[in-house]
Amino acid sequence: SPDISVTNTKAHLDQFQSIATSNGGNRAAGRPGHKASADWVKAKLDAAGYTTTLQSFSTSAGTSYNVIAEWPHGDVNHVVMAGSHLDSVSAGPGINDNGSGSAGVLETALAYAAGNESSRNRLRFGFWGAEELGLVGSRYYVNNLPSTERDKIELYLNFDMIASPNPGYFVYDDNPAGNGARDDLVAYFTQQNVQTEFIDVQGRSDHAAFRSLGIPTAGTFSGAEETKTSAQAAKWGGTAGQAFDRCYHRSCDTISNLDLTSLDRQIDAIGHMIWTYTQKDYTDGP
Ligand code: PHE
Ligand code: ZN
Ligand code: CA
Ligand code: ZN
Ligand code: ZN
Repeated sequence: SPDISVTNTKAHLDQFQSIATSNGGNRAAGRPGHKASADWVKAKLDAAGYTTTLQSFSTSAGTSYNVIAEWPHGDVNHVVMAGSHLDSVSAGPGINDNGSGSAGVLETALAYAAGNESSRNRLRFGFWGAEELGLVGSRYYVNNLPSTERDKIELYLNFDMIASPNPGYFVYDDNPAGNGARDDLVAYFTQQNVQTEFIDVQGRSDHAAFRSLGIPTAGTFSGAEETKTSAQAAKWGGTAGQAFDRCYHRSCDTISNLDLTSLDRQIDAIGHMIWTYTQKDYTDGP
């Protein structure tokens, strides 16, 4: 499976930081830093050959945006999706939450395009707006998909916070039954000598919008406000008794608030999942 470049991903994070810095310090829904982030991501994907859409919708904070990008190859009847939210809270630039997932998914999309992959299935990405206001963008997207289109989505993979400064390696546990993607993530990390824990994320991110339609979902997470235990520090390193991300939803969630080892492991997992599932044969069902 591919080696997704952590150097390139870090450069995308530098871009998100600079967008926030020049737009009042955040990338929050309804604020100019969110629109600037969406425009920038869309332009990168356009230049790489994706078919993109900027979907706008209204929220309590003003207009917000989803960027949808499809690789124009592969069977339109079997769609594999990956996504991440592109908005921050208004308190800060949101570099770990969720510049990290956005940059990682973007770099994976660019690597897929650069490899000119002959995809069996359709590959589509979603960069969601207004997750921080209650999964508004991802819900808007699924609610506006005709049911015939919903039925074609075989899998949705979500990445929200993947470079926490005191990282854990969590795999979402709150998935519908019969979903091999969750187990494939665990197997991938195990093969890389990274231990994982399952976590019930309680619908706290955008996969919940897909899951509520019965679409199989999976995802990873490096931890937020919860405290790392000594058992977790023993297997993952870092600091026991401290939060996975002490800057969660704060102004200090800046470009300094990242663990690049976590980021690199996580983006390679994204690549592994995308390369695997775009080739999966879904003709006889999931
Ligand atoms: N969605 C939460 C946020 O953006 C973070 C989170 C991600 C929590 C994944 C749990 C699992 O604030
Ligand atoms: Zn692989
Ligand atoms: Ca890598
Ligand atoms: Zn958040
Ligand atoms: Zn988040």
